[in-house]
Amino acid sequence: MTQKPPPQVHIETFGCQMNESDSELVRSMLKQEGFTFTPDRERADVVLVNTCAIRENAHNKIYAHLSELKGLKNQRPLVVGVLGCMAQNLKNELADKEPLVDILAGPDAYRQLPRLLSRALETQEQGFDQKGFALDLSEYETYEGVLPDRDSGVNAWITVMRGCDNFCSFCVVPYTRGRERSRSPEAVLTEARDAAARGFKQITLLGQNVNSYRHEDWDFAKLIRAVADTSGIDRVRFTSPHPKDFPPALIDAIATHPTICKHIHLPLQAGSDRILGLMERTYTAKDYLALVEHIRAVIPEIVLTTDIICGFCSESDEEFHDTRRMVEQVQFDSAYIFKYSERKNTIAARKFADDVPDRVKGSRVSTLVEIQRRITLERNRRYIGRDVEILVEGDATRSSTQGMGKTDGNITVVWDKGADPFEPGTVVTKRIFEASAATLYGE
Ligand code: SAH
Ligand code: SF4
Ligand code: F3S
Repeated sequence: MTQKPPPQVHIETFGCQMNESDSELVRSMLKQEGFTFTPDRERADVVLVNTCAIRENAHNKIYAHLSELKGLKNQRPLVVGVLGCMAQNLKNELADKEPLVDILAGPDAYRQLPRLLSRALETQEQGFDQKGFALDLSEYETYEGVLPDRDSGVNAWITVMRGCDNFCSFCVVPYTRGRERSRSPEAVLTEARDAAARGFKQITLLGQNVNSYRHEDWDFAKLIRAVADTSGIDRVRFTSPHPKDFPPALIDAIATHPTICKHIHLPLQAGSDRILGLMERTYTAKDYLALVEHIRAVIPEIVLTTDIICGFCSESDEEFHDTRRMVEQVQFDSAYIFKYSERKNTIAARKFADDVPDRVKGSRVSTLVEIQRRITLERNRRYIGRDVEILVEGDATRSSTQGMGKTDGNITVVWDKGADPFEPGTVVTKRIFEASAATLYGE
């Protein structure tokens, strides 16, 4: 008698780096229980979609994706599981109204996936569908003891804390990922050493609020220094910090430790104090500028990037101009600029009207994008004629005759490979001869 082949799982990941990192944990836990993975959706017995809920367009993208799966499921037996923030946030909508979905599992419940999947496959084989849900948020779950099954490449994600207690009024994350909890430094450092032993050259420390990391007498500055001491690791990055938790010790660590990258992603969100207050960001424009000034005084070569929301509840033209002035004043190296998107059950959705017309939000975004594009281009052009160190990642997306890598500041560089096809993971020096707002060109 031939044995049944193990079920094949295909996983697709949307959203932030945290979701990328979680998908690596899910893969690890499922492989341990005998599941195999396939990059080919057409051959899978199970399709898992790890979802994001941060803005309406993230939702729409995932709904569009799920309707593609409907076609597949009509042709053959298929178990569909929705994981991540949207599963947590839309449990009622997805559970009741979406017949396609067999399994819903939130970010703290992935240890239950092997059991849920086995049961779903079994019941499907017996000819009936039974839905399985695992949606409890936990104050403790950090997936201790699960070594992620990492995507290949030069970068290893290491989640150091989970959840968020900030409750910025616009944001759904505290509801989808629950309360803050930090992993032990030993667990983080063991993972860092393991990543180095497997040949990863870069580590990115992750947390929704990464710099509020705390474990006994360890804070984030102490943790990142210890990770950066891991031998074999060339670069350490982190994302995302909150401006409220940026002590001098952290700035000092970035300034002085040779393997900590001189790049800070420092979400601003808005430039008006009244709007920052409504957003419950806990800093003023002046506080933010003082922090930037301090960072630049200690680390003049720092690359600063940010996130901005346009058209938050009741934002006036004048208040938008405050954001615009702030962007011109700070001179970020780049920025992600979003239209405010109301999320159900958040503080803003309960307390304020989403009253800036979509057209106005859109035109504010375009204005800022254009200003920032000009600033990014000017800042990138400063590299022309300079030699920069690049960590090679592989081929450029547009052409296999070009190599692609990142500067310490996380700016993309491409160059003609010619006779020098550097291996991913090597650090090379290139002279920059041209720059666009997205890319530096090296020779
Ligand atoms: N924890 C991270 C942010 C995660 S979300 C941090 O605090 O830095 C990434 C970005 O999405 C946020 O910085 C914010 O700019 C944007 N964002 C979050 N909620 C949003 C919403 N409701 N509408 C529009 N943009 C939003
Ligand atoms: Fe959301 Fe604010 Fe937490 Fe970031 S810090 S995840 S924006 S609540
Ligand atoms: Fe999206 Fe959840 Fe990340 S809402 S941005 S996947 S924390």
